[in-house]
Amino acid sequence: MPAPARTPVTIVGLGAMGAALASAYVTAGHPTTVWNRSPDKAAPLVARGAAHAPDIRAAVAASPLVIACLTTYEATRAALEPAAAALAGRALVTLNSGAPSGARAMAAWATGHGARFLDGAIKNVPTAVAEPDTLLYYGGDRTVFDEHEATLRVLGGDTQYLGAEPDLAALYEQAVGGTLLPVLLGFFQGAALVTERGLKAETLVPYTRKWLEMVNAVLPTLAAEIDSGDYSQPLSSVGIFHAGIPYDEELGTEHGLDVRWHEPMHDLLRRAMAEGRGEQSVAALVELLRKPEA
Ligand SMILES: NC(=O)c1ccc[n+]([C@@H]2O[C@H](COP(=O)([O-])OP(=O)(O)OC[C@H]3O[C@@H](n4cnc5c(N)ncnc54)[C@H](OP(=O)(O)O)[C@@H]3O)[C@@H](O)[C@H]2O)c1
Repeated sequence: MPAPARTPVTIVGLGAMGAALASAYVTAGHPTTVWNRSPDKAAPLVARGAAHAPDIRAAVAASPLVIACLTTYEATRAALEPAAAALAGRALVTLNSGAPSGARAMAAWATGHGARFLDGAIKNVPTAVAEPDTLLYYGGDRTVFDEHEATLRVLGGDTQYLGAEPDLAALYEQAVGGTLLPVLLGFFQGAALVTERGLKAETLVPYTRKWLEMVNAVLPTLAAEIDSGDYSQPLSSVGIFHAGIPYDEELGTEHGLDVRWHEPMHDLLRRAMAEGRGEQSVAALVELLRKPEA
């Protein structure tokens, strides 16, 4: 039996991520058309069998499924504008980072030109594209996801549909991404502390990993507290975190580290204490984030 025909795919944007997406489709045997503002970036993919569209109109016209991976929604619209008329009847998927408002504007523009639209986020680096564990999630037109799920799954085995609203992937991107910088800053502060003592940062890695596993393990409990609004059975109370403030400050006074990045978090803890939340779960801080002081 011959292998079933693979859906033709067009990749618009061949930066680090777009090139990885196109490469995954070439490897998986999909007829792959590529386009990039700077055309020289297409050469390595063409050498492996991709077709290089001479212009953006030809790129869009080449496939029923067009996946754009440029820097922003604005850049994507600018690039696709000359091909807007060719979008009618096609599925357009965007895979750039950006705010939910950008995703909604992109959806309105795309559907206004007759495209079916899905917005996604890829939660990993270009070298992880096509790996079985790589997470991508999508929001928008369910018919696009259902029709092209197998093709989208080429980009990562952990491919999920969030719902019909086209800004959901951008929303979850922001919601999940909020942990990244505070977690990394905490690691960098630890690295500054141990390296000042002549120890290697790498000595921290196994212990930090265990610590993050603990954080990982308590997330469902914290989420259940937030969803129920019941903070009365704390694993860790606001008061415990509040009592740790002097230890954070000591890192500055005793070890000469710049600990100013803690100040807004300490302020949040002090305000929670002032609201009488000392005995509540630390998850109650979400209530203060919901109502910032005027
Ligand atoms: N790289 C990662 O680790 C990673 C991980 C997850 C998500 N992402 C997201 O994926 C998206 C692409 O990232 P990347 O790493 O591929 O970025 P990149 O390497 O900087 O490539 C950016 C791409 O956007 C194109 N572009 C920018 N402005 C344009 C415009 N006005 N008109 C036409 N084309 C334009 C560039 O074209 P030229 O080549 O002509 O400049 C290039 O193809 C971003 O939203 C990023 O946040 C990236």
